[in-house]
Amino acid sequence: MNDTTGVSVAGSVALVTGANRGIGAAFVQELLAAGAQRVYAAARNPRSLLELAQQDSRIMPVQLDITDEESVRIAVQRLSDVNLLVNNAGVSLNTRVIAADALDGARAEMEVNYFGLLRMSRAFAPVLATNGGGALINVLSILSRVASPIHGSYSASKAAAFSLTQSLRAELRSQGTLVVGVLPAYVETDMTDGIAGPKMQAADVARAALDALHSGQEEVYPGEVAAQVAAWLQQDPQAVERNFAQSVAS
Ligand SMILES: NC(=O)c1ccc[n+]([C@@H]2O[C@H](COP(=O)([O-])OP(=O)(O)OC[C@H]3O[C@@H](n4cnc5c(N)ncnc54)[C@H](OP(=O)(O)O)[C@@H]3O)[C@@H](O)[C@H]2O)c1
Repeated sequence: MNDTTGVSVAGSVALVTGANRGIGAAFVQELLAAGAQRVYAAARNPRSLLELAQQDSRIMPVQLDITDEESVRIAVQRLSDVNLLVNNAGVSLNTRVIAADALDGARAEMEVNYFGLLRMSRAFAPVLATNGGGALINVLSILSRVASPIHGSYSASKAAAFSLTQSLRAELRSQGTLVVGVLPAYVETDMTDGIAGPKMQAADVARAALDALHSGQEEVYPGEVAAQVAAWLQQDPQAVERNFAQSVAS
């Protein structure tokens, strides 16, 4: 992990995708707590943001579907003061890659988790450049680094997003944009409803990501489980792969 100069949240203007619930909503709260000047909270359905927006006058609700070119175009035109983009929106359809309907699910996950992230990053990179470089936080997953059979096509989409994060880091370094990849294990949100296993809290993921931002850490593994898997991946990636395949195969 090659650390670089950190970016402060205090006084920043942030945009969080998928902000109406889960990790996105936690990002909004943590950004405000860290002194953000304004937080654009984006969701496909703006009505789902009403309660959140009432909590603090610095929260600005925004309609945004990251799979819709026109929706992203309108957002980028309106939100020209953003200097911190949190690419959080994502989907997991819990599909095995050899399942009968796997192709449709895999395409849908790629459309949000990879192409959505790409679309948003391409659209907002010039805005970040104009506003001094700023930062981009991509919410990835430990499943970007190791596949889980019960989330096969999700793992592939998050691996693609991990690689894209590296490409963005390489391209955006020259404009002074810090690109942070966040790779948690299970988090207690709607996405993991019905899934057994230790889960960390969404607020802890957001806090870890913002700590990484402050210190210029480009890759962060929030929580004990993700940190342990990351350490193990460095020692013996094949053993981690076998372990994941066995532990969650049934
Ligand atoms: N939960 C976990 O265990 C876990 C672990 C590692 C990484 N992650 C990642 O963390 C991120 C947030 O997940 P979460 O756990 O908070 O899940 P969640 O509670 O299911 O929330 C997902 C969010 O993404 C939004 N979204 C989905 N498709 C979208 C689209 N096309 N355009 C804009 N927004 C869209 C959803 O909006 P709607 O309300 O409109 O559906 C919702 O706000 C995801 O990228 C996920 O892959 C989660």
